[in-house]
Parts: sequence; C-alpha cells; structure tokens
Amino acid sequence: MRKVITKKFPSLDSTNTWAKQHEKELDPGAMTCVLAEEQTKGRGRKQRTWISPKGNLYCTFCFRISHDNRQIPCLTHILSISLCEILSQWKMNPKIKWPNDVLIGGKKISGVLCDTEFYKNDVQIFLGIGININMEESILSHIDQPATSLKHCLGKTLSIEELFQQLLEQFQKNLILFEEKGFCIFQDRMQNLLAYRGQHIQIKEENETISGICHSITCDGHLNVQLDSKEMKTIYTGDVQFKIPD
Ligand code: BTN
Repeated sequence: MRKVITKKFPSLDSTNTWAKQHEKELDPGAMTCVLAEEQTKGRGRKQRTWISPKGNLYCTFCFRISHDNRQIPCLTHILSISLCEILSQWKMNPKIKWPNDVLIGGKKISGVLCDTEFYKNDVQIFLGIGININMEESILSHIDQPATSLKHCLGKTLSIEELFQQLLEQFQKNLILFEEKGFCIFQDRMQNLLAYRGQHIQIKEENETISGICHSITCDGHLNVQLDSKEMKTIYTGDVQFKIPD
C-alpha cells in the first residue's frame, strides 16, 4: 500500500487545480490526499462548476501508476465503487450513473474528476472526488440536476474526516487489486451498482444523442447500450440521462 501524505486547506480554488500546480512537490511513490474545507472554483466534468461550500468532502488523490495500465480511465470507476461499498455498509442503496456519478434515490451525491499528466514510464493521476455530506437543502436546490446529501438521506450530520478515512482505506485496497488484476474483476460489482440498468436511457455525446436500453458494463468499464434496432453499442464517453418512456 502506498504511504499516505495528507495536505489539508481551509479553502482552495480547486483541490485538483492545486494538486496539478504543485505536482513537483508531490512524492511520486506516495498517495497524497489534497483536501479543502471549501472550494471557490470547484470543477466538474465537461467544464461544469462543482458547488463547494463548507460541510462536504473535497479531495484529490494524487499518485503515480504504471504506463502499462491501459485502463487508466477506469480509475474513476474504482473510486466511485469504493464509495458505494462504504454507503452499502451503511445500509444505503447507492447506484452509479455511468460513468461515475454516485446516486442515492436517483439523486446525485458524488462526482469524480480525473486529471492526468503522462510521463515516459508512468502517469501522474489527480483523482478528485466531491461528496455532498452536510449540504443544506437550500444549496442543493441550486444544483443543475437532482442532488442530495448524506445528511438529508440519513437525517444526521456526519463527520467528513471519518468518511474520508474510510474512503481512503477502501480505495487503497481496491487500487492494489486493480493494479494487479485490471478492471475485469470489478466489472460485476459495477454492473450490480449500475443505475437505470434495463431501463431506457439517452446518452448525449459531443454531436449526437443515442437512445436505448442501459445494458451492461464491459471489461474495460465502458457502457453497453442496446439500441432500439437491438444492436449493441458500446459507449466510451458521454452523459447518461434517464428517458421517461413515451
Ligand atoms: C462531476 O460530477 O462533474 C465531477 C465533480 C468532481 C468534483 C471534485 S471536488 C474535489 C475535486 N476538485 C475539483 O475541483 N473537482 C473535484
């Protein structure tokens, strides 16, 4: 297991941005966790903003991984799966909206953003996660998609530090397995957690929208969608939206 170095800040623009800017100071053999109590310019996927007031977890896991690992995009799944495993132990019923939004009761509780820097022999990973822990209802309603918080789901305020420690431990365990065996051994776990499985979805890609049944996860973490023509299409990137049947 990698040695853990934790860097905590009261406020940062974004933990991912800070980590990238300070990459030279990171120990390449360690797992450096950059944490902020709040972010003033939290970043989401596709240039979206991640609303980041105090009370939630904002963390970027920084580590290096071998270049041979062609499944680097799967790291986002490994982190989402790790969070779901913890929430499942708490008797919640988390789902993953492919590629890596964690939902509870159909509402988003967490998102993952991965930045990378490629070197000759390895890749520096900046794997950021935001988890709505104690987010108030008034702020949740300003998010541009249905969102919730653990406080709202469990009816009590939770310790950010405790969840962070549990997540770190679970992620480190899963990361070792992933590096040894690849994503394939997580394929079933992710499939069992897949939101909208068997239901009609729409996927917005750069220039087109695809619709069909949310079918399964491939051994490389991609999404199989069964098109209306019954043909199976593998989706490599895009945003899933649940489609209400006509
Ligand atoms: C998404 O769902 O669009 C991804 C959201 C990722 C948010 C986290 S919060 C910690 C880290 N720092 C950032 O600026 N973004 C990620």
